[in-house]
Amino acid sequence: MRVITPGEVETKDLHQFILGAVAPRPIAFVSTIDDDGIPNIAPYSFFNAFSSNPPVLVFSSNRRVADNTTKDTLHNVELNQELVVNVVNYEIVHQMALASISYPSDIDEFAKSGLTPIPADLVKPFRIKESPAHFECKVSEIITLGNHGGAGHLIICNVLRMHVCESVIDDKNRINPHKMDLVGRMGRSHYVRAQGEAVFDLYQSVMKPALGFDSLPKHILNSNVLSGSDIAKMAGLYKFPDVNELADLMKNNHDLKSVFSSAESSDNILIDNLHRLVKNTIDDGRIEEAFQIAMSYESVLNN
Ligand SMILES: Cc1cc2nc3c(=O)[nH]c(=O)nc-3n(C[C@H](O)[C@H](O)[C@H](O)COP(=O)(O)O)c2cc1C
Repeated sequence: MRVITPGEVETKDLHQFILGAVAPRPIAFVSTIDDDGIPNIAPYSFFNAFSSNPPVLVFSSNRRVADNTTKDTLHNVELNQELVVNVVNYEIVHQMALASISYPSDIDEFAKSGLTPIPADLVKPFRIKESPAHFECKVSEIITLGNHGGAGHLIICNVLRMHVCESVIDDKNRINPHKMDLVGRMGRSHYVRAQGEAVFDLYQSVMKPALGFDSLPKHILNSNVLSGSDIAKMAGLYKFPDVNELADLMKNNHDLKSVFSSAESSDNILIDNLHRLVKNTIDDGRIEEAFQIAMSYESVLNN
């Protein structure tokens, strides 16, 4: 693997390696206002949510690597501690890019980007009408991480009120990710769109203890056929198949019967054939059955 040690590479290169590896990042489209009432909007992808109670968002406004200057967003929140974080969907990504240009402080990026300012309820900065979700925030703390180009200022924001566009909320009161259609920032000019096949569901209970890799027999863990991801799907189940389930399987699953009946002298070939059947069953989404097939090897051995 490439070894990269801070201090031994130029900051601009380290910056790009960090951006390429810590990705995709959500984008806070931050709206602030200065003391003369000039609005400012700029995207920040060193951003995330860190607490729900109290609700806290954090983003980092960095010193520019090229000339070590700081940004208008930081200046504005230092002045009045108020901001609105707006999320970025695919529909507004090009307008967001326009707003990211370093215009002089007296330039209104709403006018430059063609986005529409609408009033917030509890803070002075405007919300961005075209964004599907807005967080009105009060800054509780700014943590300065350094004085050189590239150094961040962590801007810790307490959420006072959230607004979510009705059209992205489904009838179970949940945000539908496909309707949100958010974009994330990757390295350099790469972005990702959370839409279609890029969005997938992965169910795993966080409370109920699953079997885990270390409970599984060696032939599964050392498989030539099953990937780590295949094994993880079985390790995520909560119990081993019982004798009745295995007996039914051996009676009714013809593919399994043919694996065992065509068993050649080599145990390894039998295991590979068995694992191919396990893999196909996993690919069909029948994880419990796949695990039963995998565990049938034990039951055959024990009989
Ligand atoms: C998608 C995207 C994400 C960005 N993320 C950050 C970031 O996390 N921190 C940062 O300092 N600058 C970031 N930038 C650059 C700022 O948006 C840019 O410097 C902008 O001009 C700052 O505007 P301001 O001076 O009005 O605050 C990002 C730019 C883009 C396009």
